Amino acid sequence: MGTETSSTVGPPARKAAPVLRPARTVARWAVRHGLPAVYLERGARRGDPVGRLLRDRSVRDQPYGLYEELRARGAVSPGSIGLVTTSHAVASELLRSDRFGVGWDRSQAPRLIRWALAFGDELDAAGVAEPPSMLVVDPPDHTRFRRLVSRAFTPRATAAFEPVVQRTADSLLDALERHPGAHGGEVDLITTYAAQLPVLVIADLLGVPTERREDFLRWGAAAAATLDPGLPFRRYVAAERALRAMHAFLREHFARLRRDPGEDLVSRLVGLPDDEALTERELHATVMLLLGAGFETTVNLLGNGVVLLDAHHEQWDALRAVPAGWDGAVEEILRHDSPVQITGRTAKESGPLAGREVRAGTRVTVLLGAANRDPEVFDAPARFDVGRVNARDHLAFSAGIHYCVGAGLARLEGVVGLRTLSERFPALRVSGRPIRRDLQTLRGFEALPVTLRG
Ligand code: HEM
Repeated sequence: MGTETSSTVGPPARKAAPVLRPARTVARWAVRHGLPAVYLERGARRGDPVGRLLRDRSVRDQPYGLYEELRARGAVSPGSIGLVTTSHAVASELLRSDRFGVGWDRSQAPRLIRWALAFGDELDAAGVAEPPSMLVVDPPDHTRFRRLVSRAFTPRATAAFEPVVQRTADSLLDALERHPGAHGGEVDLITTYAAQLPVLVIADLLGVPTERREDFLRWGAAAAATLDPGLPFRRYVAAERALRAMHAFLREHFARLRRDPGEDLVSRLVGLPDDEALTERELHATVMLLLGAGFETTVNLLGNGVVLLDAHHEQWDALRAVPAGWDGAVEEILRHDSPVQITGRTAKESGPLAGREVRAGTRVTVLLGAANRDPEVFDAPARFDVGRVNARDHLAFSAGIHYCVGAGLARLEGVVGLRTLSERFPALRVSGRPIRRDLQTLRGFEALPVTLRG
C-alpha cells in the first residue's frame, strides 16, 4: 500500500473545469501509472524481480517462488524502483522507524512531474492511497487523522461490534440456504458471502445505507486497482469513474449526516468542533479509506481462508471439533496468504539499513507476504498450520504508526465469518477453480465456486 504519496496534505478541494477534465485524467494517469509502467516493464524484461512481480500475471498469481529467489539475494536487494526487502526483521525495523515515511517531498521531483501532479489534482478523482489519506501521510497530519478515527476501533469498541458481525453472518448464511445453487448445485462464495460480510459491517459502522452495498462493492473493486502502480489507461479511466461516483455519494452522505447525525463514526467526523474539524478533502480521504479498507481487504482474508482450509481438510475438521482454535487459524491464514502483499516506505534521511547505506529519498518496497514466510521467524514457512504457535508474529497488518487501524475488526470478521460458515455448512467444498483478482497489492479471489452440501 502507499504507492502514491506526498509529504504535504494537498491543496484545498478544487473542481476541474469540465473542458479540462480529460486532460487532467491523462496527466494523473501518466504520473501515477504510465511512467511507473514504463520503468517496471523495462525492469521485467531485464529480469528484475520487482518488475516481474508487478507486470507478469503468472508471477503475480503465484509470487512465493519469486520471493524465495529474492530472499536468496539477501535481506535487502536492489529493484527497478529503489530497494526491496523480503526480511521480517528488516520490514519490522523499517515500518517502525521514524527515519522512513510514507510521504515524499514533491519539491524534489522533476518539474514536469510536479506540474502534472498539480494540474491533475482533483478531489473528486482522488484514490484511497493519495494524500491526505492517512495511509500516505506522515506526522503530524497522520497523528491528527489517526487520533480522530482510532476511538472507533479500540478493543472495547470492536468487541461491542461482535453481535453485529454475528447477526450479519447469520443472515447472509440464511440467504445462502435459500440460494438456488444451495441444494446440490454450485455457489460463488465470494459474491454471496465473503464480499458481503465486510461491506455490510463497515457500512453499519460508518452509518452508510446498506442498500447501496452493491454500488460500494463495484466502486471498491475499481478503486482497489489504483493501489497498483502501472495500471493501463483504460483500467485507470474505469477506476476513476468509480472514484468519482464514490466521492459524489460521500458528499451527499456528509450533507445528510450534518442535517441528521447518528451515533456512527462519520456523524462524529462531520460534527467535529471547529478547532478539530477536517477540511472537505480530509473528510473525503478519511472516510473513503475507511470504507475501502474496511471491505477490500477482509474479503480476501475470508476467501483465502476457505481455499486454504479446503486444501487442508483435516485442519478444518479439527477446527470444527475445537472452535477455540479459530483465533489461531485466522492468524495463520493472514500469515500464509496475506491479503495485503506489498507496501513501501521512503527514506527521509540517509542512514544504514541492514548493513547497507540508504540515501534520503530511496524507496524501499516491503514485501509483507514474503516477510510472513521468513524462515528466520517461522519454521517451515510454506506449510499451512492452524496450530502454529507464533503465527501472530506476522506483519499482515503492517507495523509502526500505520499499523492497520481495523485489525481488531478484521480479526473478528475472520473468526466469526469462517466459524459460522463452517458450522452452518460442514460439508462445504471448493468445487471449481477459484479465480484470482487481477491485483498486485491485494491478494485474493474474485470468484470461488463451492458446493455447500458436499
Ligand atoms: C484482513 C483485513 C485487513 C488487512 C490484511 C489490512 C491490512 C492493512 C495494512 C497492511 C495496513 C498498513 C499499510 C502500510 O503500513 O503501509 C493497513 C492500514 C489501514 N487499514 Fe487495514 N487491513 C485489513 C482490514 C481493515 C479494516 C476492516 C479496516 C476498517 C476500517 C481497515 C482500515 C485501515 C486503515 C484506516 C489503515 C490506515 C492506517 C494508517 O495509515 O494509520 N483495515 N491495513
